[in-house]
Amino acid sequence: TTPIIFDTDPGVDDAQAIAIALAHPEIELLGMTTTFGNVTIEVATHNALLLAELGGQQIPVAQGAATPMVKPKNPPPGHIHGDNGLGNIALPEISTQALPQSAPQFIVEQVNARPGEVVLVAVGPLGNLAAALQLDPSLVDKVKQVVVMGGSIREGGNVTPVAEANIFNDPHAAKAVLEARWPLTLVGLDATHRCVLDPDSMARIVEAQGKLGRVLGESYAFYRTFYQQALGIDGCCPHDSCALAWLLRPDLFTTTRGTLSVVTEGLAEGQTILAPQARAFVDARWTRDATVEVCMGADGPAVVEWIVETL
Ligand code: BDR
Ligand code: CA
Repeated sequence: TTPIIFDTDPGVDDAQAIAIALAHPEIELLGMTTTFGNVTIEVATHNALLLAELGGQQIPVAQGAATPMVKPKNPPPGHIHGDNGLGNIALPEISTQALPQSAPQFIVEQVNARPGEVVLVAVGPLGNLAAALQLDPSLVDKVKQVVVMGGSIREGGNVTPVAEANIFNDPHAAKAVLEARWPLTLVGLDATHRCVLDPDSMARIVEAQGKLGRVLGESYAFYRTFYQQALGIDGCCPHDSCALAWLLRPDLFTTTRGTLSVVTEGLAEGQTILAPQARAFVDARWTRDATVEVCMGADGPAVVEWIVETL
């Protein structure tokens, strides 16, 4: 099994991914770390605790970034995930609480306890990973792998024409994380927009997932309306689940290597730009030696089938 820390801002598609992390026999979920993003930090932490409870598992949850590192942003827009992050559906009370330590502290502790073993899967804005790197720069050599759902190379953005939400919400943190010298794979919109979780597939998941299934199904209905309006598709892109799909089934994705740069200011704020390793560029600023792997496409139907089979 692979020990992972799941860094998340739940979020409808985060909730689906959390269900996968709880269910998959090859994943050992060491803990969840929360960030603002789709929702406020308080709501994110509440939802992470709730989803673990509904899944019947005791998973440590550490609360993290409440704001972007440098520049304040508008509050989360309620129309995508709902003000409660789960499509504004009625939710049961929770009985568990977050750990006393912060998300970055939790990450540093866990990685140092098992050097070379832990995979960080980040599916929200990247403030917790950036802060963990600041606390302990040796993490770059101690994590096994970092998988980030975020960014877009050729696909265009979903917040602005060039920026994807997780990167846009904290571009300075994204810059620190994506430009660091650690083994990192970016699973962005170039891959996740190829995957559409259709209503029939969701119905199969709801049937199999008990209490958690109700929450996944009802929140999906809300998210589906957003996708109908935004992209004109019938179904939702399971963005965050794709990060886990890449981890366990990399054969379902096409990838390339290169250096990533993140735009932190101006109209293109939040854009991720790839300088492919296979090409030579005159301006050396684009080609530092921190190369990463970037997903450029995915076998969408196969990824969706993997999600349904897992759940
Ligand atoms: C990403 O942004 C959030 O809204 C989703 O949860 C996902 O992590 C997609 O751009
Ligand atoms: Ca997310």
